[in-house]
Amino acid sequence: MKQENNAKAILAIAMKLSKPIAYLIILLVTYTMGYLIASSSSSPPPFSSISELTNLPNQLDHFRVTTRCSDRPVQPELVRQTILDRVFNSRSPYDNFPPPHVRDLLRTKRVKGWGSYGAVFDHLVRSVKPRIIIEVGTFLGASAIHMANLTRQLGLRTQILCVDDFRGWPGFRDRFKDIGMVNGDVLLLQQFMQNVVSFNFTESVLPVPFSSASALEKFCEWGIFGDLIEIDAGHDFNSAWADINRAYRILRPGGVLFGHDYFTAAANRGVHRAVTLFAQFHGLKVMVDGQHWVIDSS
Ligand SMILES: C[S@@+](CC[C@H](N)C(=O)[O-])C[C@H]1O[C@@H](n2cnc3c(N)ncnc32)[C@H](O)[C@@H]1O
Repeated sequence: MKQENNAKAILAIAMKLSKPIAYLIILLVTYTMGYLIASSSSSPPPFSSISELTNLPNQLDHFRVTTRCSDRPVQPELVRQTILDRVFNSRSPYDNFPPPHVRDLLRTKRVKGWGSYGAVFDHLVRSVKPRIIIEVGTFLGASAIHMANLTRQLGLRTQILCVDDFRGWPGFRDRFKDIGMVNGDVLLLQQFMQNVVSFNFTESVLPVPFSSASALEKFCEWGIFGDLIEIDAGHDFNSAWADINRAYRILRPGGVLFGHDYFTAAANRGVHRAVTLFAQFHGLKVMVDGQHWVIDSS
C-alpha cells in the first residue's frame, strides 16, 4: 500500500512537469512498480533443473536422515564378526543347522533367481575385486551363491552380506509351493541357509534377516560399508528409491552400486525411474550391463 501511495504522489508531480520528462518519470515508476510487485509475490519461481528442485531447503528436509554413518568404518576382515556379534549373539547362524523341526521340510538345494547369472556379476567382481559385497534382496540365494563362486575362483577373501526379510511377498507361495511353512512362518531363510550349506559357502555368505530399511540404516550406524552393493528387493519406485539412497550412504568411496530389472515393466518401471532420478540428483552416470543398471562412483 505504501509503495502504491508513493507512486501516486510521484505521478501527480510528474503531471505538472513538461511532457517528455513526465513520460520518462511515468515509465520509470511503472517499471519499478512491476519489479517490486513481482519480487514480493509469494508464487514459487519456475524450476529449470532437477537439481534446483531437489536442493530447495524444504525439499532437502524430506531427505533428512536421523542416523549418522559411523566415521570409523569396520575393517573388511572384521565385518563378519561384527555382524555375528550384533545380529547373532556372537555365534554363526549355521552352527547346528538345520534344527530338527525344519530338517525334513528343506530340500538339499532349492535355488531360483531372476537374472542371477548375468555377465554383470563376473564383470563387476573382476573389476571391483570386492572385500565386502552387500546384496539387498536375496531370496533363495541364486545371485549371492553365484557371486561367492566368482570371488572364490578369483581367490578373493570376500564376505557377502545378504539383506532380506526372507518373507518373499504376499502370494509368492503360489509359485513356490514347495517352500515349507511352520505355523505361518515361511521357511525362506532356512532354505536359503540350506543352499549356502550345500554349496559350501557358510564362511563367506551371511544372511542379515531384516527389512532393507532397518538393516541398511544399522550398517551405516555400525560402520559397515560395501565395495559392491546389489539392489534387488522391492521393485516399486518407493522401495527402489529408498534402498538405492540408503545403499549409497554405505558405499565405500569408489565402490559400485548395481541392480536388476532396469528394463522390466514391473511396478510401472519403478526401478528405472528410481535409478534415473537418483543418478540425476547426484550427477552420476548410469551404465547398462544386460538387464542390470550399474553406477560406478569412482
Ligand atoms: C527378486 S528377489 C531377489 C532375487 C535374488 N537377488 C536373486 O537374483 O537370486 C527379491 C527379494 O527381496 C526381498 N524383499 C523385498 N522387499 C524387501 C524389503 N523391504 N526388505 C527386505 N527384503 C525385501 C524379498 O523377500 C525377496 O526375497
